[in-house]
Amino acid sequence: MELISSITEMARITANWRNADLQVGLAPTMGYLHEGHLSLTNRAKMENDKVVASIFVNPLQFGPKEDFSRYPRDLEKDLMLLESAGVDAVFHPTSQEMYPENFNASVEVLGITDVLEGAQRPGHFKGVTTVVAKLFNIVSPHRAYFGQKDAQQVAVIKKMVRDLNFPLEIIICPTLREADGLAMSSRNVYLNADERKAATVLYHALATAKAAFENGSRQGNALRKIMDAVISSEPLAKTDYVSAANPENLREYDGLIPTGYGVLLSMAVRFGSTRLIDNFQL
Ligand code: PAJ
Repeated sequence: MELISSITEMARITANWRNADLQVGLAPTMGYLHEGHLSLTNRAKMENDKVVASIFVNPLQFGPKEDFSRYPRDLEKDLMLLESAGVDAVFHPTSQEMYPENFNASVEVLGITDVLEGAQRPGHFKGVTTVVAKLFNIVSPHRAYFGQKDAQQVAVIKKMVRDLNFPLEIIICPTLREADGLAMSSRNVYLNADERKAATVLYHALATAKAAFENGSRQGNALRKIMDAVISSEPLAKTDYVSAANPENLREYDGLIPTGYGVLLSMAVRFGSTRLIDNFQL
């Protein structure tokens, strides 16, 4: 496995692969890897000849009051995991390499970035699309792998690829969970023991709303109320938002969800200073 920090070097390697008619898959990450991340590289491995994973804690997507500086990092362990997973190259640039002094461009998707996570985290998705566009241009993968765990990120990146004609395919992988339902996340390490127990409330809220939906509860506001009630029953949990929205345009369903349309149930919940997100797409 090669560890690459230079953009030119990364681009040269993948260009050689493409010229040799090899299919290239990319799994972008911010590191501190868990099985959720590895499910992306595993899927990429099945569908491509060569797999690149990137590890870059992207400063552009963190707000001034967010956890950029304390975001967990463990490069050595990450490299071990990626090596065992059979990844061919790891792209791990510095911030200076990605955003040199005169860096002054951005990529922004409008319309679906000012709700949900975007409403709570202004500028977040602009940071995500800017770094992901750079990674796509540097690596030129045939396929790029993302987790359903970050449902709005998925919608935003798909829209960017469609609107800007990036010549690649976006593959979405299901959310991997701990045995008690908590979605795997690098941020779960912030939780103390009590908060860790309480954090299963996200999964329970989603599962309760899903059951109601399957039993015929098809009103957006009713589904949000159900999720809110479950979260409120947990004293350590504070709701940032709960949502029952159209999975593509992310608009909230107010009344009846029309038959034939999907619904994205999603939420952000705080436990102390830790903010967790989760979703089910029905
Ligand atoms: P990060 O949070 O490290 O996640 C990297 C990828 O792993 C994302 O596509 C995310 O959805 C996926 N992932 C995280 N937890 C998962 C889980 N439990 N099951 C399945 N997939 C999971 O998302 C980012 O980094 C960044 O925004 C990035 C896209 C790398 C741009 O900086």
